[in-house]
Amino acid sequence: MAGLLLYCRGGFESECAAEIQAHAARLGVAGFVKAKAGSGWVVFETYEADAAAEMHERLSFSELIFARQWFVFTAFLTDLPLTDRVSALLQGAAALPAPPSALFLETPDTNEGKELSGLCRALRKPLEIACGIDTRTSPQTGAGVRLHVCFLSGTAAYVGYALAGNSAAWPMGIPRLKSPRGAPSRSTLKLDEALLHFLMPAERDIYLRPGMRAVDLGAAPGGWTWQLVRRHIHVTAVDNGELDSKLLETGLVAHVRADGFRYRPKEAVDWLVCDIVEQPIRVAELVAHWLAEGVCHHAVFNLKLPMKKRYQEVQRCLTRVDDIVRGAGLDYVMACKQLYHDREEVTVYLRC
Ligand SMILES: C[S@@+](CC[C@H](N)C(=O)[O-])C[C@H]1O[C@@H](n2cnc3c(N)ncnc32)[C@H](O)[C@@H]1O
Repeated sequence: MAGLLLYCRGGFESECAAEIQAHAARLGVAGFVKAKAGSGWVVFETYEADAAAEMHERLSFSELIFARQWFVFTAFLTDLPLTDRVSALLQGAAALPAPPSALFLETPDTNEGKELSGLCRALRKPLEIACGIDTRTSPQTGAGVRLHVCFLSGTAAYVGYALAGNSAAWPMGIPRLKSPRGAPSRSTLKLDEALLHFLMPAERDIYLRPGMRAVDLGAAPGGWTWQLVRRHIHVTAVDNGELDSKLLETGLVAHVRADGFRYRPKEAVDWLVCDIVEQPIRVAELVAHWLAEGVCHHAVFNLKLPMKKRYQEVQRCLTRVDDIVRGAGLDYVMACKQLYHDREEVTVYLRC
């Protein structure tokens, strides 16, 4: 038995399933999906044993929008003995392509999953020792084979591996970000996670420099603006709503009460961020035109997805962005992800 296990936000299993099926069809991999609404995970089982491993190598994790994390499973263990789960898990991990240099013990991101977090903590050290993983010498991210165990219950688990360089750097794809003190809204974490997810550390140093200029459309009360100000970036915050007064006191923020769909800065800026709650296609077109017209170089924006056909809607929006930006003769980088802090929405990063 082999396949791919993908974690997603609960309620987005059908989008995650549709997406992995589309990639499998494109890559010519035969298989079928198993997905249960609200479970927070999806399995793509391949008919040929090596096909899942091949797909994990050929498909870049960054291309997956609805999967927060993924791994190749090589065994599905049921009836794990309560007295010695470690030996059974070790046997399940026998088919790994190389000795693992790290271990992620995971569960689906559901209430039932949370109840298994104590078990994961208890098994971590013994399993690391049994597998010969030395966390003092192992590379933390970016290289090697990582052993994954996904517990569905105390006695059932998928076991397998991910290439650390082609998967999320955090267990279950969930970065543990603390809500910063002083930020005007919790949605500040969405932009924080986006900058962490879409940019490499060296890129963050280059692309988010003090003194840069940004526009935040739909800024109030100011959680996204706060993230930029924290990095000493000047922000024009566009919103008819009230902005947190402390942000205005920083001297880095100008509040403009205007319609974000009409506003344009007098000079080009480095960044555009946009969290306006609107039809996703309107937001996608707006941001694409800013890039195509050279009004900004980078953009982070949310596509809100209150509709039924969410996967198709995201594809439609990304295609529209491609039409507009490529139509202007520009080369660009685009990535889209449903981040952990996203709810009924996905986040897009664009760079020209
Ligand atoms: C989800 S909130 C933004 C939250 C903000 N990112 C934060 O972190 O605090 C959406 C905002 O978009 C604003 N908005 C909606 N339509 C707008 C438009 N056409 N132009 C500008 N702002 C708009 C709303 O007033 C609201 O404050």
